[in-house]
Amino acid sequence: MQPDDHAAVVLVQAACYPPSMQEASDVLRKRMRVAGDTCIVAEDDRGVCAYLFAYPSTLGMVTPLGAEFAPAADADTLYLHDLAVAPRVHGRGLARRLVAYLLARAQGLSASALVSVQDTAGFWTTLGYRPANSACADALATYPGQARYMVRPLTGPGVPSPSCSSLRP
Ligand SMILES: CC(C)(COP(=O)(O)OP(=O)(O)OC[C@H]1O[C@@H](n2cnc3c(N)ncnc32)[C@H](O)[C@@H]1OP(=O)(O)O)[C@@H](O)C(=O)NCCC(=O)NCCS
Repeated sequence: MQPDDHAAVVLVQAACYPPSMQEASDVLRKRMRVAGDTCIVAEDDRGVCAYLFAYPSTLGMVTPLGAEFAPAADADTLYLHDLAVAPRVHGRGLARRLVAYLLARAQGLSASALVSVQDTAGFWTTLGYRPANSACADALATYPGQARYMVRPLTGPGVPSPSCSSLRP
C-alpha cells in the first residue's frame, strides 16, 4: 500500500462497510505510515480493488473501531485489522491471497488474530482462524453487530501453512 492508494482504499472501504463502520480517512493514512510493511493492496485493471491493514501486536489485544495502530515492541501476533475486497472481485480468492501473503512474511510471530464482523466467522474459519477469548471487551464493543475475536496459531504442530499456489498471481 502506497500513499497514492489512499483514495482508492477509501472507496473500497465505502463499498464494503455500512456507514457505522467507516473509519476516518486520516486514521487510514496514519495506519499506513506506522505499519507500512503490513498494509497491502491488490489491483485489477481498474486499480486498487482490495486491501488488508495489519500490524504486529500482542495476543489478546483488540484494536477499537476507528483507533490508530500502536505496533507492539514485543509483538507475538500479526493482528489483521481490516480486510476488504470490492464487490466487483468477490469470490476470486483475493482475500485468501492477501492473508497468505502477510502470513508468509510473519516470521518470528507465533499467532495471527482479528475481529470477525459482518458474519465472516465462516470465512475466517476456512483460513484456519478459531474463536478465542480476549479481555478487551470494551474494544470489541466498539464494533456494531456481532464481533468475534479469532486466532490462528502460526507455529507449532498442526499449523496450516500458507499455500505457495495461493501466492501466485
Ligand atoms: C469477506 C471478504 C473479505 C471475502 O473476500 P473474497 O475475496 O470474496 O474471498 P475469497 O474469494 O478469498 O474466499 C476465500 C474462501 O472463503 C470463502 N468465503 C468467502 N466469503 C465467505 C463468507 N462470507 N462466509 C464463509 N465463507 C466465505 C470462499 O468460498 C473461499 O473458500 P474456498 O477457497 O474453499 O472456495 C469479502 O466478502 C469482503 O470484503 N467483505 C466485506 C468486508 C468484510 O466484512 N471484511 C471482513 C472483516 S472481518
